[in-house]
Amino acid sequence: MRIAFIGLGHMGGPMARNLLRAGHALHVFDLGAEAMHSLVAEGAQAAASPADAARNAEFVITMLPAPRHVEAVLCGSGGPGGDGTGVLASVPRGVPIVDCSTIDPATVQRLAQLAAAQGNPLADAPVSGGTGGAAAGTLTFMVGGSAEVFAQVQPVLQGMGQHIVHCGPVGTGQVAKICNNLLLAISMIGVAEAMSLGVALGIDPQVLAGIVNTSSGRCWSADTYNPYPGVMPNAPASRGYSGGFGVDLMRKDLGLANDAARQVHQPLPLGAQALQLYELWSRQGHGQLDFSSIIQLLQGQRPA
Ligand SMILES: NC(=O)c1ccc[n+]([C@@H]2O[C@H](COP(=O)([O-])OP(=O)(O)OC[C@H]3O[C@@H](n4cnc5c(N)ncnc54)[C@H](O)[C@@H]3O)[C@@H](O)[C@H]2O)c1
Repeated sequence: MRIAFIGLGHMGGPMARNLLRAGHALHVFDLGAEAMHSLVAEGAQAAASPADAARNAEFVITMLPAPRHVEAVLCGSGGPGGDGTGVLASVPRGVPIVDCSTIDPATVQRLAQLAAAQGNPLADAPVSGGTGGAAAGTLTFMVGGSAEVFAQVQPVLQGMGQHIVHCGPVGTGQVAKICNNLLLAISMIGVAEAMSLGVALGIDPQVLAGIVNTSSGRCWSADTYNPYPGVMPNAPASRGYSGGFGVDLMRKDLGLANDAARQVHQPLPLGAQALQLYELWSRQGHGQLDFSSIIQLLQGQRPA
């Protein structure tokens, strides 16, 4: 299949690579020339703009940082109608557009209406599984869109992921994603608090983690991704909080959850507090560290 793939960063690069390996013909675009070169070296064709990538495509995928980037790539810049550089200016009628970025449900729904008005189905399909899952082709895709669109996009997403889940109408993939990450941030801060308190009171962190992980405090943040250094050899905490899922990405996702909550008058007391803590930690210059490094804010430490 001829696929336009736009956004070749930490996630998009390896995802596009897996589609090439699966035998698809890729037309790629990214603002960063280096990101494009490495894909072109592996057989993709470079495009001059999102519109250029989408012109002869049978399928379009975007994997971009935040709502404004997705809007710019689909609509072009220059206000209503755009300047002709966006996907919607050139994509053939009927071709599905799948946005895999993590953005807010309202933006996806608005963009889906614009796309539908010119005959293109749009689905949101944010992912979990991180850069490791992107490279291994084992991502989980949370897909929002009609049953027909889901049937259309599922086979292509299977080239990049292991679990392709239909969440409901357009926007619900993003709902699933931001609710999961809201809970992840809160549980990580909770584990960080408990580990910090335990160690301050004199218990060995390994012993405490062992108790928690066989007791009712057990959760992914404690038993797979423990934030205390040395407790889990493979967790980012044991390699100076490098790699993994960045503080700034978590801060962005918490912002999306808090914004979405305001729109439906849903109180988010712990979500608001979690956002403030990640905001502070990022402001102190730690935006690129793994999000489990939040334990250092509670301990009053700075990374070495
Ligand atoms: N990194 C992770 O572990 C992870 C995990 C799950 C979900 N996500 C989500 O996936 C999305 C992408 O994350 P990432 O880590 O790949 O980000 P990234 O910053 O590494 O990559 C984004 C890419 O988009 C490109 N880009 C930005 N604006 C563009 C434009 N107008 N036209 C073309 N290209 C443009 C950038 O040059 C960059 O290469 C984000 O929404 C993120 O929240 C990331």
